[in-house]
Amino acid sequence: MNATQEQLKLQFKQALVAAFGADFAEVDPILVTASNPRFGDYQANVALSLSKKLGKQPRAIASAIVENLDVSEICELPSIAGPGFINLQLKTAYLEAHIKAIQADSSLGIPAAKMPKREIVDFSSPNIAKEMHVGHLRSTIIGDSIARILEFQGHDVLRLNHVGDWGTQFGMLIAYLREVYPEALTTANALDIGDLVTFYRKAKLRFDADEAFQETARQEVVRLQAGAEDTLHAWKLLCEQSRQEFQKIYDLLDVKVTERGESFYNPLLPTIVEDLEKTGLLVESQGAKCVFLEGFTNREGEPLPLIVQKSDGGYNYATTDLAALRYRIQQDEAKRIIYVTDAGQANHFAQFIQVARKAGWVPDDVELVHVPFGLVLGEDGKKFKTRSGDTVRLQDLLDEAIARARADLEVRLKEEERKETEEFIQHVAEVVGISAVKYADLSQNRTSNYIFSYDKMLDLKGNTAPYMLYAYARIQGISRKGGIDFEELGNNAKVLLEHETELGLAKCLLQLGEVISTVEQDLLPNRLCDYLFQLSQKFNVFYDRNQGVPVLSAEEPLRTSRLVLCDLTARTLKLGLSLLGIQVLERM
Ligand code: ARG
Repeated sequence: MNATQEQLKLQFKQALVAAFGADFAEVDPILVTASNPRFGDYQANVALSLSKKLGKQPRAIASAIVENLDVSEICELPSIAGPGFINLQLKTAYLEAHIKAIQADSSLGIPAAKMPKREIVDFSSPNIAKEMHVGHLRSTIIGDSIARILEFQGHDVLRLNHVGDWGTQFGMLIAYLREVYPEALTTANALDIGDLVTFYRKAKLRFDADEAFQETARQEVVRLQAGAEDTLHAWKLLCEQSRQEFQKIYDLLDVKVTERGESFYNPLLPTIVEDLEKTGLLVESQGAKCVFLEGFTNREGEPLPLIVQKSDGGYNYATTDLAALRYRIQQDEAKRIIYVTDAGQANHFAQFIQVARKAGWVPDDVELVHVPFGLVLGEDGKKFKTRSGDTVRLQDLLDEAIARARADLEVRLKEEERKETEEFIQHVAEVVGISAVKYADLSQNRTSNYIFSYDKMLDLKGNTAPYMLYAYARIQGISRKGGIDFEELGNNAKVLLEHETELGLAKCLLQLGEVISTVEQDLLPNRLCDYLFQLSQKFNVFYDRNQGVPVLSAEEPLRTSRLVLCDLTARTLKLGLSLLGIQVLERM
């Protein structure tokens, strides 16, 4: 919510009390952005919602509210429309004052969270010895953006990388490497991740086919769990190897995340089982310790238990998640835990979260949210693959985006007969390429699948990163061309919103706070993308109306006023993009 909405809400509260009595003080005025700008800027739907309670026609209720409503500082005279909507149109003088106020504010008038709290974002979370795939890329990009937004609002955010660094796969891998490539278990960096992944695949094949090998692998797991020195050392080396590979991707993406892998919770697993036993939720089924919940069945309709301890004594992915959950609540004191994974894991989250609730481990003031996302598809609409049908390596994917951004740039430089340094070209290509990948992902409603297309994401027109970056660079170009230092525009700059395009742009500039707080709640970064896209479009309309609204050639005080709008647009874009993990370019 932004300051304007808050003020309006306050006025509605008073009007409701004046019209219907003190009982109505807490009634939500249902104030929303008007669906159609022709009807004004905001619309209050409260009259309709009170009709039943008051036993009156909504229009009569709306009139009673309007009679008692004092919004004359902010809005033109409110009007009642349709069945009883109250329409509000912001006054130009009010908008002018507001624009001036946020111009002087480094956080653009966006208030910090009223109640900052500890929030955990569990994201990225690839698996050791396996390749990081596009699913992890989505988790990394979306999780990072969510974390940035919460951090910006002043929450105390713990970014956790719940890497898969424990489990039976290590037994298999270590047993296999002991046979075929023992140096890998004693020498650092003896393998690169590609080899590691290949060895992992071969180990798995061997495991599935060879019973004696299965036994050896199990022995290794036992040794690992018992902390046998050589096995533990080998495990650490393998983890380190993967970690270095993952870090390359995080560096490219400029993402910070703290590793706290599954192994961290290992010592806590036996207690989880014991404590569940005490709650009476645990049932033994075919030697395994399980919790049965209503509503979880397999395709045949048979109950699908959550297995917390297998018949061989081993623990599961879910057991670790239960332990992590308790640790995060008790030790980290998290008030909201956000898990960013593919939608395919929705059941897993629903299930262990329900078990934790049943066990009484989730206090009322703790919120647990699974943030699911869809698949990345190739341009053929099928699973994203390379031409030869292999899974795409993230490093290759990002390199390709950068290479294509570079090729596009080189064509543009030729056309414009510009000469730039190699350093400039490479920097622009990297920023554009990486931003394009991030933005393409974030601008989709994350719950749907999306089609990965380099051509689309790098298009200079449309809802893409290059379009947004270009709008920003264009504004910086105005300042260069006019020899203007935006920071020097000063506090005594007069803001005059004369033209329709100026009003439209000003209103849009005042909405960022509202958008951010919506994303804080529903964790859908595409709302922020939509907003920034709209803003860039509004700016371009404002700026392109050259005859009506010239900027640099306008007379004072209009010139400065328009420059303030330019500067605010640039700062809003920069801030908004930074919350998506996207860096701006002064020139491109
Ligand atoms: N390692 C898992 C995977 O690759 C994701 C882990 C997500 N976080 C969690 N707490 N389960 O799918």
